[in-house]
Amino acid sequence: MTPAAPVRRHLAVLISGRGSNLQSILDAVAERRLDAQIAVVVSNRPDAPGLARARAAGVEAVCVQPRGFPDRDAYDRALLELLRARGADLVCLAGFMRLVGPPLIDAFPQRMLNIHPSLLPAFPGLHAQRQALEHGVRISGATVHLVTPQLDAGPIVLQAAVPVHDDDTVETLSARILVEEHRIYPEAIRIVLAGGWMVEGRRFVRHLRDD
Ligand code: GRF
Repeated sequence: MTPAAPVRRHLAVLISGRGSNLQSILDAVAERRLDAQIAVVVSNRPDAPGLARARAAGVEAVCVQPRGFPDRDAYDRALLELLRARGADLVCLAGFMRLVGPPLIDAFPQRMLNIHPSLLPAFPGLHAQRQALEHGVRISGATVHLVTPQLDAGPIVLQAAVPVHDDDTVETLSARILVEEHRIYPEAIRIVLAGGWMVEGRRFVRHLRDD
């Protein structure tokens, strides 16, 4: 298998809420740490504060609500049409609180990323920080991975670890992890855009290091 070629640099960012990871990507683009442009930001919720962050940065922000679509495939197909119309090359899920189905995943093979607030494969799914606290792990963190049909299970591009303190709450642990999320998501996007990597089994392997 040949390593992936560099990806064209039009990003779509999918959100559902606060949009702090979106902000870290917007900042990385503005500061030229990330050589890319955000073609569109899409939220499934009209009240997502992230929509305003996108607009403040001069980026098109669109809400596509699931109601009005008969099923998930129909919703995903509508998103796909929108992303194609905006020329998206790489799709970044950033707190997008919906399962993404085959119509969308298959259209962006190895071109869709997600960020998750745990060291996967530990604590996939919802409330990862609470899961980590309740399990009693001493270290947790953040993971950026390629999206595959199985939830939070795709090849891992980058991870960062943080300690879990005895007096942590979900809020304090989440805040500590979030600092790392904001650091590694733009970096993972940069790595994927640069090409020179391939997926071998479960592993994301970089063949041509660019740093
Ligand atoms: C982040 O913790 C992310 O890892 C998870 O959802 C949260 C989204 O936060 N998938 P934000 O909307 O980026 O601030």
